[in-house]
Amino acid sequence: MKTTISLSTPSQLETESLVAIVLDQTDPAQKEKNKKDAKPQLKVEISDDSVRPSTADLLGNGEMTGKPFEINLLHKPAGLKAKRLLLISGGAAKKFTSYDLRRIAGAAVRTLKSRGIRSFAFIAPPSIPAEEAVRAIVEGALVGNFDPDYYRSDRKDQKIDALTILASGNSDQAALEKAANEALIIGESQNFTRDLVNEPSNRMTPTILADRAKKMCQEVGLKCEVYGADKIKEMKMGAFWSVAQGSDEPPALIVMRYEPSGAPEKPVLGLVGKGITFDTGGISIKPADGMEKMKYDMAGGATMIGAMRAIALLKPRVKVIGIVCATENMPSGKAQKPGDVQIAMSGKSIEIINTDAEGRLVLADGLFYARQLGCTHLVDAATLTGAVVVALGYANAGIFANDDAMYERFHKANDEAGEKMWRLPLDDEYKENIKSSIADIVNSGGRWGGAINAAMFLKEFAEDTPWIHLDIAGTAWMEDQKPWIAKGPSGIALRSLVQFVKDFTG
Ligand code: BES
Ligand code: MN
Ligand code: ZN
Repeated sequence: MKTTISLSTPSQLETESLVAIVLDQTDPAQKEKNKKDAKPQLKVEISDDSVRPSTADLLGNGEMTGKPFEINLLHKPAGLKAKRLLLISGGAAKKFTSYDLRRIAGAAVRTLKSRGIRSFAFIAPPSIPAEEAVRAIVEGALVGNFDPDYYRSDRKDQKIDALTILASGNSDQAALEKAANEALIIGESQNFTRDLVNEPSNRMTPTILADRAKKMCQEVGLKCEVYGADKIKEMKMGAFWSVAQGSDEPPALIVMRYEPSGAPEKPVLGLVGKGITFDTGGISIKPADGMEKMKYDMAGGATMIGAMRAIALLKPRVKVIGIVCATENMPSGKAQKPGDVQIAMSGKSIEIINTDAEGRLVLADGLFYARQLGCTHLVDAATLTGAVVVALGYANAGIFANDDAMYERFHKANDEAGEKMWRLPLDDEYKENIKSSIADIVNSGGRWGGAINAAMFLKEFAEDTPWIHLDIAGTAWMEDQKPWIAKGPSGIALRSLVQFVKDFTG
């Protein structure tokens, strides 16, 4: 998608469609008080009055309620050079933020592209600082532009090719262009991740995932190494190998390095991703119902590959190493069995209670290896537990941290990136749950607090290195389509990760 910043007057712009946001100026508290006769006071978010005549009737006659994502498409709007005017409601003016703006931009893209339109101009709402608005609009538009129906013979592949953002006349155009370019890199990287996650397991084996990572690294100038079974065994990654041993597909340990000249020796950020290209559960096999979804069990790994792409193109002055532990989790005559004891790379012994708790096994060695490579700070992302979906549903990813300062940093990045994550605890009490009578720890702490037990397991391998764990099992896949995003892979966590790296100064 090509993006252009324009400072021209909206009414003078020739475009397939102008898009403007409508906000309800009513005080939400007031509205709550007199619910019955509360009439919305709708206003188009635009600083010049050129749009008003063509919208006055529609906004005044009660046809529009002002609820978020309500849409009206006007043709040949009076007084405007645009062919169409798309009005999208953003809800209450008082509560409207760039978080909502991202989604409105995505909804505009999805509305217009489904009508065969390929370019449009979006009026940045004056209530949000211009750079922040440009960023949200571009990122949101790219999210909306993705559709996962690759293998449908009737795939229309409708896309928006060109987006113009209309900012107010007195903005700094160069600064806005920089913001748009950065947002484009981030949005394209997010869609790159979604591409990888979308592929089914027969078309996204560990080897294919590694090849895609290699190709990307070559394109953006990153070092990339891929190790196979021999090296994994040689490095004594007994936890990673215990999962990989059951599959006929060879595993891949993907290591991507961003080491810009001029970056300080330290910190070195390690981004570690779970790359299970299919999770059957292994010998503790999953029920058939819904198992097809386990092709997205490599979403954490794909997120790290996409994040490395964005980082290589944005060039922050900090070293970053991306590590993806990719394998299938299969039942077979070679597969590990419940009761087996495995020795992780760190030397810790693990009693396997449930072979379906495989993500934490591959990450245990991934995290330890990252520390061996010199990482001073770690972030992992993984579709790790069904329990995090029970705890937080689909709206928030789970976030865990062994270091409050690092958590605060990441939380700030969440806010800036418009992603929702909710912190869950890692108190010492939970350590009881992963005690074993035969080994150092068990790989499954049972049902209660399952997301926390999994995180406690990982903590054993992060040890005293500041570390963040993102459990994206409930958020990496959209169960239904929304006005701003298609059903399928969401690309969650990539934007926060990139923002976190950009903000990182040691
Ligand atoms: N990949 C799953 C977690 C998952 C569940 C991801 C639902 C996405 C949607 C993970 O490997 C798993 O199977 N976890 C088990 C752990 C249990 C055996 C301790 C789970 O959550 O049931
Ligand atoms: Mn599993
Ligand atoms: Zn899994």
